[in-house]
Amino acid sequence: MRIEDRIEAVRRQVKDWRKEGLTVGLVPTMGYLHEGHRSLIERAVKENDRVVVSIFVNPTQFGPNEDLESYPRDLQADSRLCEAAGASLIFHPEPVEMYPENYTTYVNTSGVTEELCGKSRPIHFQGVCTVVSKLFHIVAPDRAYFGEKDAQQLAVIRRMVRDLNMDIEVIGCPIIRESDGLAKSSRNTYLSAEERKAALVLSRAVKVGKDLISKGETDGEEVLKQMKAIIEAEPMARIDYVEMVAWDSIEVHHQVDGSVLVAMAVYIGKTRLIDNFIWE
Ligand code: PAJ
Repeated sequence: MRIEDRIEAVRRQVKDWRKEGLTVGLVPTMGYLHEGHRSLIERAVKENDRVVVSIFVNPTQFGPNEDLESYPRDLQADSRLCEAAGASLIFHPEPVEMYPENYTTYVNTSGVTEELCGKSRPIHFQGVCTVVSKLFHIVAPDRAYFGEKDAQQLAVIRRMVRDLNMDIEVIGCPIIRESDGLAKSSRNTYLSAEERKAALVLSRAVKVGKDLISKGETDGEEVLKQMKAIIEAEPMARIDYVEMVAWDSIEVHHQVDGSVLVAMAVYIGKTRLIDNFIWE
């Protein structure tokens, strides 16, 4: 497995693979990899001849008061995980390689970015769409893999790919959880032992929401009310949002019909965690 920090080196490698008739999968990440990322890489390895994992803490998707500086980084551990999962190449650029001086081009996707995280993190999806477009142009993969953990992000990328006619298949992968239910996240490392326990309210609320709907509840407001009650009972938790939207237009939805996404963002202390379920 190779590690490259230059765009040109990645392009050259992918061109060589193409000449041999090999297919290429891409897994974009911000590093500090865990089992959730690993599940994406392993799926990509199954479905493609070669897999590129990008590791880049993308500055343009962080707001001014967010955790860009403190975001955890560990390239050594990440490369061990990538190698073990069967990746062929890690692309790990410096910020200046991706955003040289006088960088001025951004990709904006409207509509699907208005609710949920788009509301509380106004420039977030512009940064995500911009960096993912750049990665798509650099790697030119056949397939790209994203987790349902960031369900709105997956919907936004799908919309961008459709709208801009990008010739890439976007593949969504299920949420990987800790044994007690907490969705795996690089940001879980911010939690103290006490906060780690309190963070279980997210997955408990997800379970309650799912159970209600599977028992026949179709009133979205009722589902959200019961989910919120669980989170509000935890003194360390502060709700950013708990919402139901249509999957995958991400428009607010009050009835459980068709496919819906029930998603939440909750602060546990200073750490903002997200979780969700998709009901189809
Ligand atoms: P990051 O948070 O590192 O996540 C990289 C990919 O891993 C995303 O597609 C995310 O949904 C997926 N993922 C994270 N935790 C997961 C879990 N518990 N189960 C399943 N999949 C999980 O998302 C980003 O980085 C960035 O926004 C990025 C797309 C790389 C653009 O900068």
